[in-house]
Amino acid sequence: MELRDGDLQLRPWTLDDVPAIVEACNDADIQHWIPVIPRPYTKDDARAFVLGEVAGIGRQQFAITESGRVVGSIGMGVNDSHTGHVGYWCVRDARGRGVTTRALRLLCDHAFEDLGLERLELITDPDNRGSQRVAEKVGFQREGVLRSHLLHPDGRRRDSVMFSLLPGELI
Ligand SMILES: CC(C)(COP(=O)(O)OP(=O)(O)OC[C@H]1O[C@@H](n2cnc3c(N)ncnc32)[C@H](O)[C@@H]1OP(=O)(O)O)[C@@H](O)C(=O)NCCC(=O)NCCS
Repeated sequence: MELRDGDLQLRPWTLDDVPAIVEACNDADIQHWIPVIPRPYTKDDARAFVLGEVAGIGRQQFAITESGRVVGSIGMGVNDSHTGHVGYWCVRDARGRGVTTRALRLLCDHAFEDLGLERLELITDPDNRGSQRVAEKVGFQREGVLRSHLLHPDGRRRDSVMFSLLPGELI
């Protein structure tokens, strides 16, 4: 399944993407903000990700490509309450150009219109202003703070901010 907005495409990952995933996931910001990313991030980690063997991140995982080049990742897990939980990253040299905002809009539209989901949520670190801005630009509302919510591999225990989007709120 593929989703498209002009030159931006969301498509399934393939094993050919492993080198791009390894390079992206060793980026300092991606490692700092996303606790489920192993560090260092190896080819085996990327292969397991592409093959759907990583637990807890959801089965709907897409490469974000721009004119055919991998520039990011966006994915979603869906629970029994028809709620999707979204996560994303963007490669360093493609940041600040709206790539993740456009990708998130595509995924949210697919989640509501094609999958019939009734709530989408995402969490960010309280200090991750870039990610919060992406969520807000698409219409997500800030709900509150989950205290001492996530343990990072480097031992940091951090709060999370919960954002949600309901049908009809996508902008
Ligand atoms: C967060 C991230 C996905 C954003 O991707 P992106 O493609 O650069 O996002 P966009 O260009 O669509 O939008 C970024 C917005 O955040 C803003 N922003 C970025 N850094 C910011 C900061 N430190 N403080 C405030 N706003 C910030 C940008 O100005 C932009 O908003 P604007 O369009 O109103 O100017 C990317 O920086 C990233 O991959 N970071 C590391 C991994 C990560 O944090 N993932 C999310 C975990 S919840």
